[in-house]
Amino acid sequence: MLFKFLRNAFLFIGIFLISTTTFAKKKSIDERVDSIMNLMTLDEKIGQMNQYSNSLATGPVSPEGIKPQEIKDGKVGSFLNVKGVDNIRITQNMAMQSRLKIPLLFGLDVIHGYKTTFPIPLAEAASWDLQAIEQSARIAAIETAAAGVHWTFAPMVDIARDPRWGRVMEGAGEDTYLGCAIAKARVTGFQGKGFGNTDAVMACVKHFAAYGAAIGGREYNSVDMSERTLWETYLPPFKAALDAGAATFMNSFNDLNGTPATGNVYLQRDILKGKWGFTGFVVSDWGSIGEMVEHGFVKDKYEAALAAITAGNDMDMESRSYPKHLAQLVKDGKVPIKLIDDAVRRILRKKFEMGLFDDPFRFCNSIREKQELNNPTHRIFAREIGRKSIVLLKNDENILPLSKEKTIALIGPLAKSKEDMLGFWNVEWPDNSDVVSQFEGIEKRIGKQKLLYAKGCAISDTSKVGFAEALAVANKADIVILSIGEKRDISGEARSRSNIQLPGVQEELVKAIYSTGKPVIVLINAGRPLVFNWTADHVPAILYTWWLGSEAGNAIADVLFGDYNPSGKLPMTFPRNEGQIPIYYNYLNTGRPALNDSAIHDYHSGYIDLQRSPRFPFGFGLSYTTFAYSNLKLSSAKMSANETIDVSFTLTNSGKSAGEEVVQLYLHDLVASLVRPVKELKGFQKIMLKPGESKTIHFSIDNQKLSFYNNKLEWVSEPGQFNLMIGTSSADIRLSQEFELEAFK
Ligand code: BGC
Repeated sequence: MLFKFLRNAFLFIGIFLISTTTFAKKKSIDERVDSIMNLMTLDEKIGQMNQYSNSLATGPVSPEGIKPQEIKDGKVGSFLNVKGVDNIRITQNMAMQSRLKIPLLFGLDVIHGYKTTFPIPLAEAASWDLQAIEQSARIAAIETAAAGVHWTFAPMVDIARDPRWGRVMEGAGEDTYLGCAIAKARVTGFQGKGFGNTDAVMACVKHFAAYGAAIGGREYNSVDMSERTLWETYLPPFKAALDAGAATFMNSFNDLNGTPATGNVYLQRDILKGKWGFTGFVVSDWGSIGEMVEHGFVKDKYEAALAAITAGNDMDMESRSYPKHLAQLVKDGKVPIKLIDDAVRRILRKKFEMGLFDDPFRFCNSIREKQELNNPTHRIFAREIGRKSIVLLKNDENILPLSKEKTIALIGPLAKSKEDMLGFWNVEWPDNSDVVSQFEGIEKRIGKQKLLYAKGCAISDTSKVGFAEALAVANKADIVILSIGEKRDISGEARSRSNIQLPGVQEELVKAIYSTGKPVIVLINAGRPLVFNWTADHVPAILYTWWLGSEAGNAIADVLFGDYNPSGKLPMTFPRNEGQIPIYYNYLNTGRPALNDSAIHDYHSGYIDLQRSPRFPFGFGLSYTTFAYSNLKLSSAKMSANETIDVSFTLTNSGKSAGEEVVQLYLHDLVASLVRPVKELKGFQKIMLKPGESKTIHFSIDNQKLSFYNNKLEWVSEPGQFNLMIGTSSADIRLSQEFELEAFK
């Protein structure tokens, strides 16, 4: 009796001391974590490593459901898919009834905005505007935190060279250099001024690792990759995100060279927590611990839990392998308690850093929630980043921008769509009441009288019954805008497509409308690069508008009518057809590089039935103005490894309107111990110039930019000649000059 009383008294004092701020301030977070760990049973520790999903499923749901008693028993450490202050308060309250009152962490896939929806991440990448991308993540975090959520499962930093993979929409595209810069911007945006601030949410970098290289672009598929490619192309964005302070990592569904990422010791223990010194925690992907059974890597979930914890997976997202088997694994002597302690320590540390031990409800403020969600200033920014993300692919005879005097026929299945503007991974879907459709955006500009409309066809149907009405409407107008593309849920998770053409009869609608002889502008709304050759060959103006979010209609109208001069550049190569995939700009030359772009049978690398070039290259995007590049100067034609070269050139706005240009710097190591890509992006800047204005642009070349992983996986530069290229896209190099890296003296 006395023993029980004393034990409870100590427990009470312990929890009280750990929780009170005055005491807490005197103690470091590690000490506070240790104090609570000393009070925890094995089951409570394992509880911290267990994450359940609420009914808003983003994967296969366990038939077992969730029993509130499990939370009260301290058997759950985190939830995903609980959102909104009220729901979070209710659930957190249950945790507060547990013995140790350890707060729950709430995570959610906030991929491109919370209530204010921003362009999909791939679209934002097309802005090449790092400040704007950071700001988008910042606002997303402000709204997420205001809705009570602590943690977003973003950014996805997987390099993706295969547009068949539906998840290309979630990332920054195909390039490692751009991908690193964007990874850093997104993590910085989400985590803001640091944890402890109630508007900072934890980032979760995913999917570790190499998921973007799933064979054939097939979701959940295997990855087979050389070590060098892994290190050189796929890992750097993860490292960049880590260096930016990312709190958590998510592993992934794929196996990498035969070892599932979730059970991969090399990836998680050796690289992430070892060589890179990551001190945050790793969460599995949805059910991915259990899926190691289907992979054929382990016999059952008992072995799956063993493989995952051994490999460094700290938290189990919904596979229920940890709560069921970890305790037994410890008892059976298979899992040393220090592995459990390390995982729990990592998780608790984040809960302390987030301030949740000081106040588990500190993100639960209904007034703030009301103020921040869809806040007008956020909407202004959504419009701004929306227009920055649009890429002008074609503009023959300067048909764009449009005059507001003309009568416009707006035709197509996406013209009035609101829900498709939200794109995949939308937090508030199916609520699309706040979205500005393209019809609304254009109507606001030119008024009801001058705007005609017909749907023409559905996105994916084969019916052409709407064509007649569309033709009649087109014939009444001066100009036609056709809004076509993908439905919001055909790019995204589990949305791999073998055929990436415009779905349904949409391209036939384009042909029919084009045959009226009216000037036609096409808007393509999609989550990935699509194939639309007929349109690209015939239609004079094309804007790639992706899925732009809440302000889509306004952003698109801004570009159509010239209130914003388009400045986006493609972050992925657009193929001519699916047979060209994978296609990316930084390929190796081969011993028989193509002599030209034609499709002749000339014993050179390529296809006999297709041009070698892509439809639209990486880095490509037009403007309503033109830019001239001149006067390239290198501060020296030689450098040694500890020196730098200053590169400068003049950029002039040679057209008639103000505009921004993304200048791109590429390098080619001409002769090396391993063949190097024909060009690699190593710098870019987005420059605004008034008509006629010129500016001197500077880049610095240092040894880092010249280095690569050699065949011993050492990061080295090798003396010799390099070609430096400055371009407006990867395929349109305007200035170039060779320089030499001298042997180290
Ligand atoms: C996805 C993750 C996502 C998780 C939680 C998984 O299916 O692969 O990217 O964060 O679900 O929704």
